[in-house]
Amino acid sequence: MLLNARAVALLLAFCIATITTAFLSLMDDVSQLALLVTFILAFASAYLLTYITLEFFIFREINNIYDVLGKLKDREFSVADTDLNRSANPLKRINQEIYSYASDKQREIEELKLLAVFRREFLADVSHELKTPIFAAQGYIYTLLDGAVKDKNVRTKFLKKAAKSLDGLDLLVQDLLTLSQLEIGQIKMRYVYFDLIHTIQDVYDQMEGKAEKKHVELRFGAGVPEQVWVWADKQRIHQVVMNLISNAIKYSKEVNEGEELPEPGWVEVNMKEDKDKVRVFVADNGRGIPEEHLNRIFERFYRVDKSRSKSSGGTGLGLAIVKHILEAHKSKVQVKSTVGKGSTFSFALQKKKEKEEVAGIE
Ligand SMILES: Nc1ncnc2c1ncn2[C@@H]1O[C@H](COP(=O)(O)OP(=O)(O)O)[C@@H](O)[C@H]1O
Ligand SMILES: [Mg+2]
Repeated sequence: MLLNARAVALLLAFCIATITTAFLSLMDDVSQLALLVTFILAFASAYLLTYITLEFFIFREINNIYDVLGKLKDREFSVADTDLNRSANPLKRINQEIYSYASDKQREIEELKLLAVFRREFLADVSHELKTPIFAAQGYIYTLLDGAVKDKNVRTKFLKKAAKSLDGLDLLVQDLLTLSQLEIGQIKMRYVYFDLIHTIQDVYDQMEGKAEKKHVELRFGAGVPEQVWVWADKQRIHQVVMNLISNAIKYSKEVNEGEELPEPGWVEVNMKEDKDKVRVFVADNGRGIPEEHLNRIFERFYRVDKSRSKSSGGTGLGLAIVKHILEAHKSKVQVKSTVGKGSTFSFALQKKKEKEEVAGIE
């Protein structure tokens, strides 16, 4: 820089010294030597003062601002906070403000970008999932219209298949609606006191047919009491248990046609109680989930075996709904699984009403 601190200080010091000496020379009886000494003293002190002020309080801070701007441009947010400690120097404070403003904005931008990617992926997934049953139903109906309707056997078969595809579509849309309502918090949990064992037995009764078809036994563990009362949303917990148990049946071990089942399949519910909470375990001896998929199965539309689980009628939203419902109950679903041995899903529920809620009722 042409106008650096030293050059400005020299210029200013020269002006100040010249003006001071000129004024002094207007007086009578001032010797040449005194004028010279005054000039030198005025020059030196003005130079030092100006140089120090400019260099340490202004130029250095401005250079710091440029440094920080350069780092922000390179998206480097590692300037330690201690470097920018709160300071009395206004230029230093501007520097701090620029830095914290820019890093906050950058963080927001990154979050928005991530959300945009997420939205795009979700839209692609939803359209893909909707397309499959619509295409299938469309295919059957057009084949019927093109003449197959005249054959009585084909007619019933195709209409049944079209209806099945549309049922799948209905299921998918219902799950999507539930999920979106849960996400925007529209569904408030309706807490009641109810017997969890009764709810699970209800699900077992409903799933009996499917379990029998897959040769899976539905049972309770040895130590499970006759009743376990919990404070939760009965209907939503029914949905959670339903999803977990239907998965446990659906993903039981596979048997090829004509082959014997290596061991009988089972789904077992166990409970672990303490003073305030009860932990529910839904275990199966099914095919298990490979380790690398374990923390992704709760994502929307995530399936371990894409083609097979789709053909078995799952929407891929079951576990995402389970996760949301349990989060609304301030609980978290956990999973342990070994490939070929089976999986155990578990979650905890409150046994008693929370204090303020009890107070609210009384
Ligand atoms: N008990 C289980 N045993 C093995 N795999 C499971 C089990 N439960 C869930 N999974 C895997 O997690 C995936 C996601 O489950 P879910 O969200 O219920 O979707 P869906 O059942 O509709 O495929 C399933 O596709 C399956 O691969
Ligand atoms: Mg499922």
